[in-house]
Amino acid sequence: MTKQWGLILCVVAICGCAEMGSAQTASSPAKLKDGELALPVGYQNGSKFLSEVQRPDIKQVRELFINTVGAKTKAGQPFPNGTVMVMELYRAQVDGETPVTGPDGKLVKGDLAKIFVMEKGEGWGQEVPENLRTGNWVFAAYGPDGKTLAEDFTKCRGCHAPLAMKDFVLRYDEYFEKREAR
Ligand code: HEC
Repeated sequence: MTKQWGLILCVVAICGCAEMGSAQTASSPAKLKDGELALPVGYQNGSKFLSEVQRPDIKQVRELFINTVGAKTKAGQPFPNGTVMVMELYRAQVDGETPVTGPDGKLVKGDLAKIFVMEKGEGWGQEVPENLRTGNWVFAAYGPDGKTLAEDFTKCRGCHAPLAMKDFVLRYDEYFEKREAR
């Protein structure tokens, strides 16, 4: 009799502890800042945002991706929180100083130089000065090996912040035009 009660008490104690543990981990998700985003695993298999963006001015070719949350956005609407965009920056192949072009007249992709990420979350990105705010978008950068790069994120914001009318997305119009045409 006493042995059985002891066992029941013991089970209650263990369950009680397990519940407390789960209550602690179920807190609201953290607000991420610039440089804190994870490089999304398998983004290459997700939706294309734009392909082979030509940047002869800086001798680069860029590949842009968007996650499924963002890809559901309708033209004219802002992207919802939970949208992630990834941009791969490739060096264009050069012959001396001159970028090489292929039979299609396009720049030829060389090595992957960097990977840029933009992600939106509820209440994110409000800690920066007002003139650098880009809604709820925050920024991150990675090397070709996937390791975090300590970029100057005020520069990302400097170029993207003026595009408030296009949800701070530089190729907003081109994306929706090409998507409708597909
Ligand atoms: C000199 C201006 C400039 C700076 C600095 C800059 N961007 Fe951009 N960004 C652009 C332009 C322009 C595009 C559109 C693609 C293109 O034309 O190369 C773009 C596109 C993007 C995109 C794809 C979505 C879109 O807006 O079309 C992401 C993601 C992105 N940038 C992230 C970053 C991150 C992260 C940084 C900082 C590490 C950064 N950018 C810095 C100008 C800039």
